[in-house]
Amino acid sequence: MKGVVLAGGLGTRLYPLTFVTNKHLLPVYNKPMIFYPIETLVNAGIDEIMVVLSGPYAGDFISVLKNGKELGINHLEYAYQEGEGGIAHALSLAEDFADGDNITVILGDNTTDANIVESVANFQNGALIFLKEVPDPERFGVPTLDPKDPDKVVKITEKPKKPDSNLAVTGLYIYDDQVFSFIKKIKPSSRGELEITDVNNHYINTGQLRYAKLNGFWRDAGTFDTLFEANQYWASKANGK
Ligand code: G1P
Repeated sequence: MKGVVLAGGLGTRLYPLTFVTNKHLLPVYNKPMIFYPIETLVNAGIDEIMVVLSGPYAGDFISVLKNGKELGINHLEYAYQEGEGGIAHALSLAEDFADGDNITVILGDNTTDANIVESVANFQNGALIFLKEVPDPERFGVPTLDPKDPDKVVKITEKPKKPDSNLAVTGLYIYDDQVFSFIKKIKPSSRGELEITDVNNHYINTGQLRYAKLNGFWRDAGTFDTLFEANQYWASKANGK
């Protein structure tokens, strides 16, 4: 299993904080935000990682992550995404790095203390997504579960006005190497991006997507409120509260 951290984008929802640096380098308590998703991968036993970057501050990541050794990474690669093509486009840049292996993908603004070591160790093929109950599902990809068989996801809708559940699709996914052929099939959404939700729907439509609920704390720290909540949570945890 290899790991991919997607850390591109302009972080416009965090302007003016992101006028002078990349969102994923902002502090979450005592570490840059990107340390958290990297630790999620490393704690799951993944030590070959690609970080996909974009935007004007991509070069700053080298100063922070260096060769990854201090974070427990054995092999660290970087890719640079030109433009704002979306999460699925960013992931497509990891095809050569993956080289046919399964990959665990995490968005660079997702912080969680869930341990996914067993999910990673037991993964065989298809796709595994991680869901989390949230108070504001309309901000996320939202699954529709089969009422007759709630273990089954019927579809995922990106930022629905009327969500079918209070579950968010978190930015943590495990894929087999079909993911790259599915990315080649999808078209840009109304926001002009290749959506990871469309990739996941390809796995659903071919009967190959499973889900697990994420235990513990999870936030994507991409808005002022969730960045603040993530800071509060990790500060309390570090101080044993
Ligand atoms: C992205 C995905 C969305 C997912 C979310 C999790 O949203 O498109 O499906 O629920 O990450 O962090 P974005 O951050 O691009 O709005």
